[in-house]
Amino acid sequence: MGVPSTFFPAILFLSCFICLYPDLATAKHAATGVTRHYKFNIRMHNVTRLCGTKSIVTVNGKFPGPRIIAREGDRLVIKVVNHVPYNISIHWHGIRQLRSGWADGPAYITQCPIQTGQSYVYNYSIIGQTGTLWYHAHVSWIRSTLYGPIVILPRRNTSYPFLKPYKEVPIMFGEWWKADTEAVINQALQTGAGPNNSDAYTINGLPGPLYNCSQPKETFRLNVKPGKTYMLRLINAALNDELFFKITNHTFTVVDADASYVKPFETDTIYITPGQTSNVLLKTKNLTSNARFLMAARPYSTAASGTFDNTTVVGVLEYNRNTMQFSNTSIKNLPLPPLPAINATSYVANWTNKFRSLGPPVNVPQTVQNRYFFTVGLGNDLCPKNQTCQGPNGTKFAASVNNISFSLPTTALLQARFFGKSNSIFSTNFPTSPLHPFNYTGPPPNNTFVSHGTKVVVLPYNTTVELVMQGTTIFGAENHPLHLHGFNFYVVGQGAGNFNSTTDPANFNLVDPVERNTVGVPSGGWVAVRFRADNPGVWFMHCHIEIHLSWGLRMAWAVMDGKLPNQKLLPPPSDLPKC
Ligand code: C2O
Repeated sequence: MGVPSTFFPAILFLSCFICLYPDLATAKHAATGVTRHYKFNIRMHNVTRLCGTKSIVTVNGKFPGPRIIAREGDRLVIKVVNHVPYNISIHWHGIRQLRSGWADGPAYITQCPIQTGQSYVYNYSIIGQTGTLWYHAHVSWIRSTLYGPIVILPRRNTSYPFLKPYKEVPIMFGEWWKADTEAVINQALQTGAGPNNSDAYTINGLPGPLYNCSQPKETFRLNVKPGKTYMLRLINAALNDELFFKITNHTFTVVDADASYVKPFETDTIYITPGQTSNVLLKTKNLTSNARFLMAARPYSTAASGTFDNTTVVGVLEYNRNTMQFSNTSIKNLPLPPLPAINATSYVANWTNKFRSLGPPVNVPQTVQNRYFFTVGLGNDLCPKNQTCQGPNGTKFAASVNNISFSLPTTALLQARFFGKSNSIFSTNFPTSPLHPFNYTGPPPNNTFVSHGTKVVVLPYNTTVELVMQGTTIFGAENHPLHLHGFNFYVVGQGAGNFNSTTDPANFNLVDPVERNTVGVPSGGWVAVRFRADNPGVWFMHCHIEIHLSWGLRMAWAVMDGKLPNQKLLPPPSDLPKC
């Protein structure tokens, strides 16, 4: 009565639609209908730093690469054309890629790389994520110069859970080699030694005045007005180093980690691992002068084996349009902000503890269906006959998860799975815990050799996972920033020494743990994370220290399709690259 006859079918259709797509029932997770197109021409480009000119792999001739800007809920369509003599694939680091695993990017995991002269269109939506993420090449060490920021704004008519900043500035930390980084990694893998160190750290591609032969225009300068709030979108794109970052006489409010809001907290020193991103607010002082302050970043390292780049990158915070050119000497006379000791492990542990999800809601799984205990760390391989090796005791360095150094296949795992060719490409018997337990943080075992394989863990759709990652001390305890593709996890616990499965779980934070995609497994300690396997596909997990990734500190999760049509991986795009 009074209801138009077409109304009922509409209700039936709508309610059925919502039952199939529960996420879409809330406006929070609806697509905006906006599609943003980008074209990435991957080109060689000459860049001069520290008196050396080098041809590097870039996006559209830019270094760092161009900024991608979108709103939460938008679709991105990015055409990548490879004009360089290297294989290319691009990973959109931290994007959840719900059912769109074909666009994730890690070479030989979700796609074969794009060969010279070929192209591939990455097509995906950004759902439920606001903040800063980034993109980088995900094949060999090409990411040393191919990286750029992804800025995700809140959807229209929504705001940040804090006062709108006056300005937002991406700050990307990087690492600069005078040498060709492909030669660096090839040589390291050949000799078995640790790789040559970088020559400099960079802020937005610029090394700053503390390096020999640095020109004044090779210093990052941030011009600010007094009494305003700036949001720095921090990204650690360095290959091999965790960093401390500080600005003389200034403090930050941390509001976000890996594109998830956190309960705001104050700090004067940021710690950030490769792969991590964080939005921090910087309130400028009420200064009418042309004051200048230094910002500086340098590494955290406990590595016992091998050396690392222990230099410092410096940039300048300048008040009141102080855009005049300066001499490097005048900048070097400004006080350097005091950074924590290189091996300040307790600073790092306290830092990790400060992060809490803003919520509500915080959807940390309260019950666990699949439990895993993985060791992560270094190991070694025998030196091949007729060769001399320069790794530990004349062997070759390796790295592993549960003592398996993951071998990349020659066909992408996701393709193999989708086309039913899995058996010949990978096996599904990745160990749920170490096959030969030992005192992980005590003196190293007699046998430190790793085994090799392409093994994955299979996860039924929508089941919950708890993963404890235990660092080992083999060839030195180090912090390993573990990055999971396709998901955010909740960091429910961490500790020093060996994980105790009887006593430690009682202290897990199941109320407001931070949600992120990259977390450091503490040097000589462990970290526990939980996530829900609600995204079908094959998802890479690896240490974001590039040399550890190259040595095999990597594995993959194969998440099964669910029963409903919207719980299945979509078919591959027709231009998916071939191997
Ligand atoms: Cu940012 Cu698999 O990497």
